[in-house]
Amino acid sequence: MAQNETNKQKETAMQSYINLIHEQNAVWNSIPSHYYSDYNVKRGLRNADGSGVLAGLTTVGEVHGYVMDEGNKAPIHGTLRYRGIDVKDIVENCQKEKRFGFEETAFLLLFGFLPDKETLDDFGKILASRRDLPAGFTEDMIFKAPSKNIMNKLSRSVLALYSYDDNPDDISVPNLLRQSLDLIARFPVLVANAYSCKRHYCDGESLVLHNPNPELSAAENFLAMIRPNKKYTPLEAEILDLALILQAEHGGGNNSAFTVHVVSSTGTDTYSAIAAAVGSLKGPKHGGANAKMQAQMAEIKKNIKDWTDENEVLEYLKKIIRKEAGDGKGLIYGIGHAVYTLSDPRTLILKEKAKELATVTGHNEEFALYDLVQRLAPRAFREEKGLEKEVCANVDFYSGFVFEMLGIAPELHTPLFAMSRIVGWCAHRIEEITTSNKILRPAYKTIAKRLPYTPIAERDTLGVEHLIDSAINSPEVEMLES
Ligand SMILES: CC(C)(COP(=O)(O)OP(=O)(O)OC[C@H]1O[C@@H](n2cnc3c(N)ncnc32)[C@H](O)[C@@H]1OP(=O)(O)O)[C@@H](O)C(=O)NCCC(=O)NCCS
Repeated sequence: MAQNETNKQKETAMQSYINLIHEQNAVWNSIPSHYYSDYNVKRGLRNADGSGVLAGLTTVGEVHGYVMDEGNKAPIHGTLRYRGIDVKDIVENCQKEKRFGFEETAFLLLFGFLPDKETLDDFGKILASRRDLPAGFTEDMIFKAPSKNIMNKLSRSVLALYSYDDNPDDISVPNLLRQSLDLIARFPVLVANAYSCKRHYCDGESLVLHNPNPELSAAENFLAMIRPNKKYTPLEAEILDLALILQAEHGGGNNSAFTVHVVSSTGTDTYSAIAAAVGSLKGPKHGGANAKMQAQMAEIKKNIKDWTDENEVLEYLKKIIRKEAGDGKGLIYGIGHAVYTLSDPRTLILKEKAKELATVTGHNEEFALYDLVQRLAPRAFREEKGLEKEVCANVDFYSGFVFEMLGIAPELHTPLFAMSRIVGWCAHRIEEITTSNKILRPAYKTIAKRLPYTPIAERDTLGVEHLIDSAINSPEVEMLES
């Protein structure tokens, strides 16, 4: 009890200190926006027309969402290619042949070519044989310090795997491939066990842990591991497999793959690079958007009286952009993309499946609302922001809905993305190490005035409030504002 009181007092003292100091910090950290154009800074690593700054070359994935027409970005329907092959063709062929496609996609992305039947079977067996976590790992690394957030737990688990690897720092390609295969095989198990742990320790549910089954694909294993009775339907497994195929890779410029490039370019180990990528994917502007999108749709469903009323839906979307609804960030989640303009090919494919699943699971009205939001969001964006930029629904628009219809809890939606994207990350890491061999190191122009060091006895001692005041009136700030 006394300990609790002391901790509370410590927290209150810390909060007061932060409240005082943060105003001063805000002054010193502010940079007037004209400086960015004065120095031609590529904010967000984008060119003035919104296209990305060319930072590297890749053979892993191609994201195509616009063409340049006499210096202007012309919108087109998007395409996504893995090692040159249209992802739409991968999906169509796997579905036609009634087989799971995630393992084939993983092989293609890692090695660069499509495997024949025997090679694919061997690859599947290798993955199945590597799924088990090291002895004691779940108890020592996942159950200890339970986390409400599975992405954080995943990142920590990846870092912890370093300790269980006899050769963690060797960055030769065979060793990178071994580590990649282990991570791809183990991600579903890490996520499923972290989820069980979260449900037990944070939500008070019974602890249920299932071992992976070597006979099953990644999608089937995941469904079996997160469900107490291990049961799933063929349609559920097919749809989850599809989501895993579609999210496995997205070029070198997406934030988490670029994180892998940046971290790998230092020559560090695989676990450090992949843990950083998991952290990147967690963000709500990146993979975390699927969970945000679900929360936003729940709010829309609650607040819109007539789900078929276009005006009511449009007005609500505009309120979200005006920060009067939603999470207050002004973003319609699941909408917009750095590359795609008219359409995101992954969204079109997932939407078809979402429709099929909605019929089977009795979610037709909800599907119609998603469809309406998808159609109206670009108009709300145009009318409210007054921008020419073409926005379309991105992969996160329907992925969360699909996962929800599969009965997969919202906290698993972003980890599912990670279970798939681990493949692209590994392929990009190997590519960075084998082809670039140059540390990624862009420039930051310093605009702070150079100052002499002031000995401590000669510093202003009038307290934080005075410091804030003098900071506001300091010559450095005048320099920044001029
Ligand atoms: C994906 C995303 C990060 C791409 O961002 P981007 O290419 O940097 O977008 P831009 O900088 O060209 O956006 C231009 C303006 O449109 C706004 N914008 C972009 N997407 C928006 C959205 N979905 N809702 C509202 N405003 C949006 C930006 O905030 C920016 O406004 P500002 O100039 O007032 O700051 C962005 O569209 C977004 O945040 N979408 C919602 C989150 C999401 O679904 N992420 C998943 C991506 S797969």
